[in-house]
Amino acid sequence: MKRIALITSGGDAPGMNACVRSITKYCLNKGIVPVGYYDGYQGIMENRFIELGFRDVDNIVHYGGTILGTARSEEFRTNEGRLRAIENLKKNEIDALVCIGGDGTFTGANVLSSEMQIPVIGIPGTIDNDIFGTDHTIGYDTALNTVTDAVDKIRDTAGSHHRIFFVEVMGRNAGFIALNSAIASGAESVLIPEELTDIEAVARDLKEQSKGRRSSIVIVAEGDDGGGAREIMKKVTPLMQDYTLRYSILGHIQRGGSPSAFDRILATRMGAFAVEELLKGASNVMVGVRGNDLLTLPIDAAVKIEAVPDLTRLRMLHNLRTLG
Ligand code: F6P
Repeated sequence: MKRIALITSGGDAPGMNACVRSITKYCLNKGIVPVGYYDGYQGIMENRFIELGFRDVDNIVHYGGTILGTARSEEFRTNEGRLRAIENLKKNEIDALVCIGGDGTFTGANVLSSEMQIPVIGIPGTIDNDIFGTDHTIGYDTALNTVTDAVDKIRDTAGSHHRIFFVEVMGRNAGFIALNSAIASGAESVLIPEELTDIEAVARDLKEQSKGRRSSIVIVAEGDDGGGAREIMKKVTPLMQDYTLRYSILGHIQRGGSPSAFDRILATRMGAFAVEELLKGASNVMVGVRGNDLLTLPIDAAVKIEAVPDLTRLRMLHNLRTLG
């Protein structure tokens, strides 16, 4: 293997740079040229790339975002787009492709690998943690810490004003960030897409938990069936006339910032492991982590099977409510 291409694709996630750095340095140490394409699949279709050297990845382990850039490419979904990408990979004598990203990236990688001879390996990089087959995706830990920090701050002002806050967090259609940030921030309630939301029950529970308290926090996953934080607050308002309600949408701050030590280590390990696996002949697999161990599993499984957060944690939260 002489030339390994890599992309970061989909929503950026803190730790992607640590992964790019790891792949680059590992390849160079093995005498392989790492070829970084810009802006995900879009860059492959447009043949925009850089042959990465040690200097290109100096001092990036602690940066959020991705030095390669990223995109959600519509064109790559078309046969013509993918044909162009395959032609460019061949023209550049690419022997393997590493795709760092989330479920959309893996869907692309899966289709691409069925249409060409070059081995493809996926590395899960998304703040959402919604990839089957891995305990953690790169960026999730950092996002969780960012959300926890933001909710702590909201708690201060909520308490000063005797308010109930509905805080909306990201996660597309998955409740990983919501559920675990609710535990970390001591939220009174959490609404996630994996559980149907009953507005009357939410209001009842909040009234019960708010007795004699200065503040209550409800974490709302952006993909909740009851709507986002603003909609949930609107629906609850008629049932809670005597309370002061506010909502806050944390938005894209959740995607930025310096990666946590956990994400830097995970990203570095996954990057090096992906190259090692390619050298051993792996193809059309993704890298995952279970406990402390790295592993590979078919990308196909990651694409087809839905990742669900540990719902026993939701039941635990129910038993941690403040009553009376
Ligand atoms: O996939 C990561 C994610 O941040 C989701 O949590 C969110 O729904 C989405 O991306 C936002 O996408 P965009 O970058 O298009 O705003």
